[in-house]
Amino acid sequence: MVRWGVMSPGSHLDTKIVPAMKSLPDTEVVAVFSRSQQRADEFAERHDIPFAYDSIESFGKHDMDAVFVASPNAFHSEYTKAMALAGKNILCEKPMAIDLKSASAMTQSCEDAGVKLGIAFNLRAHPAHKQAKSIIQTGIIGPIVYVSGQWAFGTHGADAPPQRTGLRSWWHDPTVLGGSDSLMATGIHVIDLICDLLDDRITEVTALSNGQTEEKPLDSLASVCCKFSKGTIANVVCGRIIPDSNNDLVIYGRDGFIKGNDTISEKLQGNLIVGTNTETSEYEFDMAPLGNYALEIENFNKVVRGEEDVLASGKAGYHSLEVTLAAVRSAWEGVTVQI
Ligand SMILES: NC(=O)c1ccc[n+]([C@@H]2O[C@H](COP(=O)([O-])OP(=O)(O)OC[C@H]3O[C@@H](n4cnc5c(N)ncnc54)[C@H](OP(=O)(O)O)[C@@H]3O)[C@@H](O)[C@H]2O)c1
Repeated sequence: MVRWGVMSPGSHLDTKIVPAMKSLPDTEVVAVFSRSQQRADEFAERHDIPFAYDSIESFGKHDMDAVFVASPNAFHSEYTKAMALAGKNILCEKPMAIDLKSASAMTQSCEDAGVKLGIAFNLRAHPAHKQAKSIIQTGIIGPIVYVSGQWAFGTHGADAPPQRTGLRSWWHDPTVLGGSDSLMATGIHVIDLICDLLDDRITEVTALSNGQTEEKPLDSLASVCCKFSKGTIANVVCGRIIPDSNNDLVIYGRDGFIKGNDTISEKLQGNLIVGTNTETSEYEFDMAPLGNYALEIENFNKVVRGEEDVLASGKAGYHSLEVTLAAVRSAWEGVTVQI
């Protein structure tokens, strides 16, 4: 049994992560940390978690194997470092931090403490994306020339995302988000996914957004053009104002293509089409709303037991953050940013 503690009991833990943990036979949620004892107690009662804390120090002393950090972006670093000092393995939400210095410090504290650090890029867990990666590695579609990935959503009739209030008001604060809304929310996921699929690094970024100005610092729509070290070009689109968005992944190789239809989603869903000179194949995946989250927790359970590597390491989290921060800068300054 892997015993988990969870930090910052907001929407993500409440509706996705803790239910996904509870769906797994070898996973137990043993403790929750909130800044308020009342919120910790309420969350513990709702999810049948035996211990609830409002002190990070006491939470860190609890006997558990791993901690899931789901705080607002700016607090990932502080919470991760505290848990590393407490000797816990950590699966931290994305973006791993809001600046590169904090991201490095997180990785360093985990290394120093001898604990495992994973970044929760759940798109990597989707079997369609794992299959796409192994197909690319076989070489049957040739070297990859161009990739596009889009993750957007929205509401018909709404020109802007809904206002979040109370404990969720940080979603409108650039200093807590890391200077961007849609780029830090879903753009970074797609950037990380493409880097993982191509097993390559992004070296150059140009971005356009409808934010990153003095009047409107936060974007609800952005397009990022990326160049990889091996020459592949990728385009990433993210946003909160496209209700009918096709959240597809398309990978064009010299000798074929891979298309993930609607696989870029919190849900495990969609299908994969692979085309080569000689044939076209289609792969279906059973829809599972919490499937990618359950698979990411399952992976980290195995990491804790020493049976697998993390799906996304601190190093991968650092690279996706440096690319996303470069995109934010590019959108502000109207320049191409080298990484
Ligand atoms: N990978 C994914 O698919 C995915 C999906 C959604 C979200 N996320 C990530 O998960 C994280 C949490 O998202 P969420 O939607 O759950 O957030 P949320 O519901 O808005 O807030 C989470 C919790 O953070 C605490 N909090 C709020 N303001 C704070 C502040 N100023 N300082 C310290 N703590 C504060 C609150 O808990 P207490 O005050 O009770 O401690 C709140 O309930 C974010 O980093 C987000 O990017 C990832």
